[in-house]
Amino acid sequence: MALRAFESLVISELFASRALESKVNVPTYSNSANWRNPSISVTLQRYTRRVVFDRSINMLYTELFKDLESVRWNMSDDVPWASFDPEKLSDEQARTIKLNAITEWSALPATEMFLRDNRDDSDFSAFMSIWFYEEQKHSLVLMEYLKRYRPDMVPSEDELHNVRFEFDPAPALETLMMHFCGEIRLNHWYRRAAEWHTEPLIKHIYGLIARDEARHAGAYLKYLKRSITRAAAGKANEIKAGFAKIGFLMAASGRAGKPLHPTNLHVNKAMFPNDTVQSKLPDPEWLEHWLDQQINFDKEWEGKVVKMILHNLSTLFGKSLESLADLNKYRKSLLAT
Ligand SMILES: [Fe+2]
Ligand SMILES: [Fe+2]
Repeated sequence: MALRAFESLVISELFASRALESKVNVPTYSNSANWRNPSISVTLQRYTRRVVFDRSINMLYTELFKDLESVRWNMSDDVPWASFDPEKLSDEQARTIKLNAITEWSALPATEMFLRDNRDDSDFSAFMSIWFYEEQKHSLVLMEYLKRYRPDMVPSEDELHNVRFEFDPAPALETLMMHFCGEIRLNHWYRRAAEWHTEPLIKHIYGLIARDEARHAGAYLKYLKRSITRAAAGKANEIKAGFAKIGFLMAASGRAGKPLHPTNLHVNKAMFPNDTVQSKLPDPEWLEHWLDQQINFDKEWEGKVVKMILHNLSTLFGKSLESLADLNKYRKSLLAT
């Protein structure tokens, strides 16, 4: 599949072209007598080498590295810096760029959390190197924009460092699901931000970042699928029910008036209520203002977020889910089995 097709933003289709999993049955070598038989030993050694090779190519990290590298944009060549039009950037718009840049910087504590909570998963931990790099680049490109054209708005190192704080340990799979939904939501927020901005260069930059967020959702979806296919017998439904619960909460939150995103969730009990990334920003109330008053993320856009989450969860569960009610019903059916 042409990788540029990623930009269609149909996330589940972005990564559906390749087989996700292939089961490798690793032989047990409990019968040590076999090792004394030279012919069997040679056969087993060959098989062992093949198993090791197969396992390495089946790590999602390997595949994601290639896929994401092939579509990665470059700060020098793919950002049309010369297209900046100073007449079309307002003070208000420049300030939103600053707050987005600081929020993106919170990938740092999120990565620390992911690495801590996924110590038993080296594949996913390795993928964090890509995710962390790309998220930090989002912060960097926004700061570079401000540095060139509104240096008074560049975040200080202290403002960036302020969003780095300890997140409490949490169930790794639920966190993964939350971030999957968060990436979908952020993709839509940035697409809307690209429309709201009037300055052509920053419109382009938000478009680049939005497509990255969609690809991140696609990558997380692969890890979600993998956790289901690798689940022990009898555990798959429990995992699906957990995903359905988080997916429902994340998708329904916008309609309830407070759209949930990893950066506005409480993550450190001891710091409550100042334990969200947003609470660490120079303006803790900014996110809601940005959504409601600035980019005007209305019901129609919220509907797109819900539709995209449901579309991807339908793929994940192998079950058509047309509405949040369908998702809730499906969750209950999983709990009943
Ligand atoms: Fe980002
Ligand atoms: Fe992202």
